[in-house]
Amino acid sequence: MADRAHRILIVDDNRITLRLLERFLSFQGYSCRCVNHPHVALQEAPSFAPDLMLLDLIMPDMTGIELCRAIKADACLADKPVMFLTTADETAEKIEAFDAGAVDYVSKPVNFRELGVRIRTHLDLAEAREKLRRYAVEMEALAAERASQLVHADRLASLGIMAAGLAHEIKNPLTFISGNVQSLRRFWPLIAAMVDRVRGGLSGEEERKARFILKEVPNVLEGMMSGVVRIETIVDGLRTFSRKDDTHHVLLDVNAAIDAALVLCTGTLGSQVAIGVSKSSRPVLTLGDAQKIEQVLANLLVNSAHALADTPDPHIWIGSELIGTTVRITVTDNGSGMPVELLDKIWTPFFTTKEPGKGTGLGLSISRSIIEDHRGTIGAELRPEGGMRFEIRLPAYSN
Ligand SMILES: Nc1ncnc2c1ncn2[C@@H]1O[C@H](COP(=O)(O)OP(=O)(O)O)[C@@H](O)[C@H]1O
Ligand SMILES: [Mg+2]
Repeated sequence: MADRAHRILIVDDNRITLRLLERFLSFQGYSCRCVNHPHVALQEAPSFAPDLMLLDLIMPDMTGIELCRAIKADACLADKPVMFLTTADETAEKIEAFDAGAVDYVSKPVNFRELGVRIRTHLDLAEAREKLRRYAVEMEALAAERASQLVHADRLASLGIMAAGLAHEIKNPLTFISGNVQSLRRFWPLIAAMVDRVRGGLSGEEERKARFILKEVPNVLEGMMSGVVRIETIVDGLRTFSRKDDTHHVLLDVNAAIDAALVLCTGTLGSQVAIGVSKSSRPVLTLGDAQKIEQVLANLLVNSAHALADTPDPHIWIGSELIGTTVRITVTDNGSGMPVELLDKIWTPFFTTKEPGKGTGLGLSISRSIIEDHRGTIGAELRPEGGMRFEIRLPAYSN
């Protein structure tokens, strides 16, 4: 039922009939507009915006059927039910009226109770039609959204396959680069000592170069090694992201994973950040890989720590809770947050807002992939008071 009174437009050239209909329908709670000329009705109908129209069949100048056709040509009125007032012998006209788009007729002299019931029925039907139409529009939008999500999932799946291939290809040469850099590091003190010993016999210019090389090579080797470690981290991350089936699922306590992640991150969090821990007093058990869950929580804690770099009173809250058959873990901070339009992108591999060297953009995509392997969900929201809140839901273990 609409919360406003339904509007009915009544058109009849007989003023007495008009008055009787108006009195009855107003008494029934409808808001009526009575018009005794079809041309006036046509003019006033759009602004009155009736929910239903009651037209006399035979009128001077323009018949009810012509009026009905003209009304149905107006897009705003086309869906509104039209009913006719007829006399018993107008069978041919009644049929024509249905052709013109009418939904029903009531014979004169009018039985008011019957008229009331029929009007109610057609208004209900019109409302149901409108609801269906809106529902169809919503369904269409939902289908379009799901389709685009599927395309996205498909792209991510291809990206996963590509990532696994890339990781494999990079890992092999990386292993010998890493091995060779380590050998060079081992050899260098020996070489440095030899060069140092023969330095006396070198010319001034050569001696200057030798001194420079002796000083620089250790830095070069360190730089190469940290580059190798960084590539290794990314490659391992890519492998975790793309490998779905090597998770070893055992019974684990989420509270223990929270403790372990906090210990892992002690160095990054430093002493400036206040940590609020609110763990469920009961053990919160789930089936999974403890190390991977710890990795996810550590990723979230490190991200929060980074976002808190310029916050005057930095806080992180981490907590667990058992809600029915779900374990909920939240990590919240009062850090910088991020522009709302980027929020959807944070789960995309390699999306980072951090400067090169600080972020790889893999933390959250790996975290999501791990949580999904655990048949869980992970989401993020911006807090109105500033900062971000991450929520993980995992199926609780019950025996
Ligand atoms: N707690 C947070 N507060 C603000 N921004 C965040 C937070 N966590 C993640 N982000 C945003 O999401 C991006 C992606 O995070 P992540 O996948 O872990 O990659 P990375 O940390 O290497 O940049 C970050 O660069 C940052 O912009
Ligand atoms: Mg990160």
